[in-house]
Amino acid sequence: MIDIQKIRADFPILRQKVYGKPLAYLDNGATTQKPQTVIDTLMRMYSRQNANIHRGVHYLSEQATEAYESARRTLRDFLNAALSQEIIFTAGATAGINTVAFSYGERFVGAGDEIIVSVMEHHSNIVPWQMMCNRKNARLKVIPITAGGELIMDEYRKLLSPKTRLVAITHVSNTLGTINPVKEIIRLAHDAGAHVLIDGAQSVQHIPIDVQEMDCDFFVFSGHKLYGPTGIGVLYGRRELLEELPPCQGGGDMVDCVRFEQTTYNELPFKFEAGTANYIDAVGLESAVNYIRAIGIENIAAYEHELMNYTREELRKIDGIRLFGTAENRVGTFSFLLEGVHPYDTGMILDKMGIAVRTGTHCTQPLMQHYGVEGMVRASMALYNTREETDLLCDGIRKTGRMFFSRPA
Ligand code: ALA
Repeated sequence: MIDIQKIRADFPILRQKVYGKPLAYLDNGATTQKPQTVIDTLMRMYSRQNANIHRGVHYLSEQATEAYESARRTLRDFLNAALSQEIIFTAGATAGINTVAFSYGERFVGAGDEIIVSVMEHHSNIVPWQMMCNRKNARLKVIPITAGGELIMDEYRKLLSPKTRLVAITHVSNTLGTINPVKEIIRLAHDAGAHVLIDGAQSVQHIPIDVQEMDCDFFVFSGHKLYGPTGIGVLYGRRELLEELPPCQGGGDMVDCVRFEQTTYNELPFKFEAGTANYIDAVGLESAVNYIRAIGIENIAAYEHELMNYTREELRKIDGIRLFGTAENRVGTFSFLLEGVHPYDTGMILDKMGIAVRTGTHCTQPLMQHYGVEGMVRASMALYNTREETDLLCDGIRKTGRMFFSRPA
């Protein structure tokens, strides 16, 4: 069971008012707020434990190194990865995908090979693959979606072929909230001899993740969407696959022996962590994961599911609203348009009521094209949101409609 008032009290930012009104923060798909324990951890690291990792024999360096490697073990357990070496700290989901797109492309992709993505991908799970396809003369194939925002699995099956090298799919759509059937997607890809990268940027904060059970080859996410710091994320990769990939960046820490004639690389995971790692934020991320585990990710999922159902029903009652994404298996991310009102106007009016939502293309321009719209408004919920905030949102949308068209309440 979730004690929502206790949880809200853990997040200092939620106490503030904007324009004299209580803040209803519903832009969690963009970034989540941080509990005090994460803020305290960052303070502690900077004020007591800061020194460069893996480089010194002195006390502070050893402390910082141990804290960083402890964070890696915590993240391994959180994802249920088999080995700590399979957990690579990155700057975020985007950095993780770019690393795989480069390194995997160098090792496994050649002219005429194919990479599969879907219409609902975030730009960060499209553009790195396009760049790699351009370098390698490979082709990008796209799984279409239904009007309700679900992958058309029959079309996916048709796209798979002996030419398919890798399938890169989002676990949860940042725009539609759809939870994709990743286990089935992975099974079909593996049957076709292809590898799979799952973009978990919008799933790890909402549903339990077990990379071994899922059977993915790569899994990426960002810390800042998981109540952790910005600038830190995780790339999980199967050890035997990571062993085969060349590093993406050269520099300190990723090397074994450097000679002008030839350089050899460090072992996993350091081969993929060139330069001074973001050890402070990795420890901050560990703190966020510990916070989540103390509440229980299953409890979070159950609470958010109930809130999602309530919000969906309330949104559906609003006159003139067009909701995008009707998948049954979904999280509490709702993109919508109010008939005849520009999404920026809706967003700006809601803002003046203290309600923070995202407006625009949500970094999913191909999805906007699919629906034939220039942008949408998005309310995306997290662990600390409440039914009262849903009610505020719905009242705010109704008021916006009335301001434009004098619609009945
Ligand atoms: N990817 C983030 C979002 O969906 C920024 O808003």
